Amino acid sequence: MTQDEMKKAAGWAALQYVKKDTIVGVGTGSTVNHFIDALATMKDDIEGAVSSSEASTKKLKELGIEVFDLNSVDLIDVYVDGADEINDRMDMIKGGGAALTREKIVAAVAKQFICIVDNTKQVSILGDFPLPVEVIPMARSYVARELVKLGGDPVYRQGVVTDNGNVILDVYNMQILDPKVMETKINAIVGVVTNGLFANRGADVLLVGTPDGVNTVTL
Ligand code: 5RP
Repeated sequence: MTQDEMKKAAGWAALQYVKKDTIVGVGTGSTVNHFIDALATMKDDIEGAVSSSEASTKKLKELGIEVFDLNSVDLIDVYVDGADEINDRMDMIKGGGAALTREKIVAAVAKQFICIVDNTKQVSILGDFPLPVEVIPMARSYVARELVKLGGDPVYRQGVVTDNGNVILDVYNMQILDPKVMETKINAIVGVVTNGLFANRGADVLLVGTPDGVNTVTL
């Protein structure tokens, strides 16, 4: 089974968590693209979606799913998104696709976070995947120096501008032993919009695509 087939299996498995007549929070990435394909099969049964990126918005609209502005929505029942790494406490690193800030905002509004991954994303300690940090452009060098003080090696993601007009620093060589503390520390650096640690609000349900089917994990 290929990695993409495992992503597809996880993406389609998330459909069972979508309730009729609700607004669904939709993340970003190749795994979520499979979920959007699945969601399109019940587009007449849901009110619509709130999207975490311009890319997902485009795909949702192309498939005939209405996309709402988050400011016009009080409640999102489920938020479905992928991850770059996830540990057994359901803490995640996200932002490989540079959509971390909008993802974190939509996740904050949702009652339930359903994380969909293939089995290569499960880790015991977060940090092999470089941690994305979204930064206000004029603060890039300052934030980079502060990230070095926290033990990381930040690298400017060349040529990438986020949907919010900001830049990304990818932080290498961080051994993230306490994800909640690290998330809070990095977010406290002036000029940081947010970082890709999703620990203070982690996933509630994890669906892992494997060669033997989809495993469901809850805490
Ligand atoms: C985008 C993300 C994605 O969820 C993450 O990068 C996983 O992507 P994929 O499903 O393509 O492996 O956080 O900002």
